[in-house]
Amino acid sequence: MERNREPGRSVAAALVAARASQTHAPRQPLASTRDHNARTPNNPTQQPTANSRHMTSAIELRHISHAFGGGAVSVLEDVTVTAEPGQFVSLVGPSGCGKSTLLRVLAGLLVPSAGDALVDGQDVRGRPGAVAYMPQKDLLFPWRRALANATVGAEIAGQSKHDARERARALFPRFGLAGFERAWPVQLSGGMRQRLALLRTFLVPRDVLLLDEPFGALDAINRREMHRWLQEVWAADQRTVLFVTHDVEEALVLSDAVYVMTARPGRIQARVDVPFPRPRVPSLVTDPAFVALKAQLLTELDRGMPPA
Ligand SMILES: Nc1ncnc2c1ncn2[C@@H]1O[C@H](COP(=O)(O)OP(=O)(O)OP(=O)(O)O)[C@@H](O)[C@H]1O
Ligand SMILES: [Mg+2]
Repeated sequence: MERNREPGRSVAAALVAARASQTHAPRQPLASTRDHNARTPNNPTQQPTANSRHMTSAIELRHISHAFGGGAVSVLEDVTVTAEPGQFVSLVGPSGCGKSTLLRVLAGLLVPSAGDALVDGQDVRGRPGAVAYMPQKDLLFPWRRALANATVGAEIAGQSKHDARERARALFPRFGLAGFERAWPVQLSGGMRQRLALLRTFLVPRDVLLLDEPFGALDAINRREMHRWLQEVWAADQRTVLFVTHDVEEALVLSDAVYVMTARPGRIQARVDVPFPRPRVPSLVTDPAFVALKAQLLTELDRGMPPA
């Protein structure tokens, strides 16, 4: 069978990311709360003080700028994004504004031209392994069955194959994949593939999840179903999530805060807190307060576009 080498290369990059922290005691995925006394990737012995327990943001991107092509193509300009422990934060912005580039910085896979990138207070620039990262493409290995695809990240993060498989097997029903453990990726629907890629990301024992347009390929009906489901899965352990989407409504339904980016070079146009109580029901999208906030975000997006 001709193997698809592009996913192999990209997954390898993400997996090398996890490898950097192989020596740490693996954390249980889907644990009930964050453990701030946990060792962190760049300082395995760190024990936060009582104060830092409350002061350290889970994610801090400060004044990030980046240019490709030896400085010729400016992609990000002075971008600051933060998320507190357990928050669900989204980035919305036009295509090409640098959302994926920003996630790659936080994943330690790309060193920015300027600025700081911190996870739990630790510098992650060029140091992969601090986060669980789901790239924009699902990047499933076509030659691995669903269960073996699900465990790849956890195994490379240092968990035994046996333990990773046991934990993955237990999560298949929650991710709507019960009975498909032995399926090949080609036998799964688009939604199932994306749930499998999400399951793989959730299995990586890290407190911070970076999800790059996980529902980008789905139609509106499937998306709504996935929103309901993702909220349930996230509510079960409330890890910190940085979520990228083009879709303002999706961002509002899922998030505690939404950052709106301008067109390239991406800057932060606005940060909007989302006050709606959880769990958020589907009818929320017709609530006048929701509609007003959506209009505000769309206005900010328009403001961030270049003049016609
Ligand atoms: N490795 C690279 N080398 C050169 N240019 C790059 C590289 N990666 C991204 N770019 C450029 O940087 C810009 C931002 O890309 P990025 O993928 O971060 O955008 P995005 O906001 O995620 O877009 P989309 O919403 O379409 O996924 C684009 O103009 C892209 O062509
Ligand atoms: Mg992208």
